[in-house]
Amino acid sequence: MADVTRRRILAAGAVGTAGLAAAAAGAQANTKRPVAPKPGKANPNGKFKDKVVLITGATSGIGEATARAFAQEGAKVYFCGRREALGEKVAQTIRANGGQATYQKADVRQESEIKAFVDGCVQKYGRIDIAFNNAGIESPPGTIAEHSLETWTNVMTTNATGVFLSMKYELPVMLKQGGGVIVNNASVSSHVGFATISPYSASKHAVASLTKVAALEYADKNIRVNSISPGAVDTPMLRRALAAWNTDFKTVAQDYPLKRIVNPEEIVRGVMWLSSDDASCIVGMDMDATGGYLTK
Ligand SMILES: NC(=O)c1ccc[n+]([C@@H]2O[C@H](COP(=O)([O-])OP(=O)(O)OC[C@H]3O[C@@H](n4cnc5c(N)ncnc54)[C@H](OP(=O)(O)O)[C@@H]3O)[C@@H](O)[C@H]2O)c1
Repeated sequence: MADVTRRRILAAGAVGTAGLAAAAAGAQANTKRPVAPKPGKANPNGKFKDKVVLITGATSGIGEATARAFAQEGAKVYFCGRREALGEKVAQTIRANGGQATYQKADVRQESEIKAFVDGCVQKYGRIDIAFNNAGIESPPGTIAEHSLETWTNVMTTNATGVFLSMKYELPVMLKQGGGVIVNNASVSSHVGFATISPYSASKHAVASLTKVAALEYADKNIRVNSISPGAVDTPMLRRALAAWNTDFKTVAQDYPLKRIVNPEEIVRGVMWLSSDDASCIVGMDMDATGGYLTK
């Protein structure tokens, strides 16, 4: 594969390269990356005191970091993912630090499971103030002619249909309670094309589109809908992608004006700001958290 093509794929922020050892070596070489904060004790009087935050896909990566951060700021966090052992571990870690968190197994591709997940949150905590629709998967590399229908359907169903289904069941709860905030996790791939990841790119373009439509439909109902677009973030997804493409963090970082891989906690700050009253007039916006990629 031509190097330029490969670089564009890597810049997609989830599709990429070498073994985990190489990725780790790249990470060490990236000295400018801020140190990720360790989970601290929850502050019951924090910025999101008593807010109920629902998160899809918080068993790892950006979702997990978001769950920890909201709980640390006093929120009640209700989250899903398919891996039960990991989900219970994340919830227990949050509770061990004095936070409130509940894990419910749910697959965002299944309408009945998303409905049960949203219902479960309302039963447990009474409402949904903030929803972060984050669950997503990467595409394996391949041209359009090479991709199977199975891959296309799985990525589209997880990333696009999953966000549609999540909003479909979250919005009536928010309407009934008189308001709420939704943040969808989009991507740099929501905005530009990257060769060989057509299922991922198409699914993330759909997330951007769903966000705009939902924002217009519900703005006058006191429900704000926005999205955030990360570039390359150090999560299990990016590391899997690196393993698929035989490259490293250092190489990927070169495609980003920031010249480094971002920590999940840096994305979390954007999600929290969009979710907060500080963003009270922000509607239908996509927050560019790519480290400058989309400005090029
Ligand atoms: N990392 C990046 O560079 C990057 C860049 C741009 C955008 N993003 C986006 O950020 C989001 C989070 O990704 P990440 O990087 O944090 O990856 P990650 O560590 O792999 O986390 C993905 C999360 O989504 C969950 N998930 C996947 N499929 C699911 C399903 N069918 N039902 C329920 N949960 C599901 C996973 O849980 P289970 O496996 O337990 O189900 C996991 O908790 C994704 O939407 C991704 O596209 C990431």
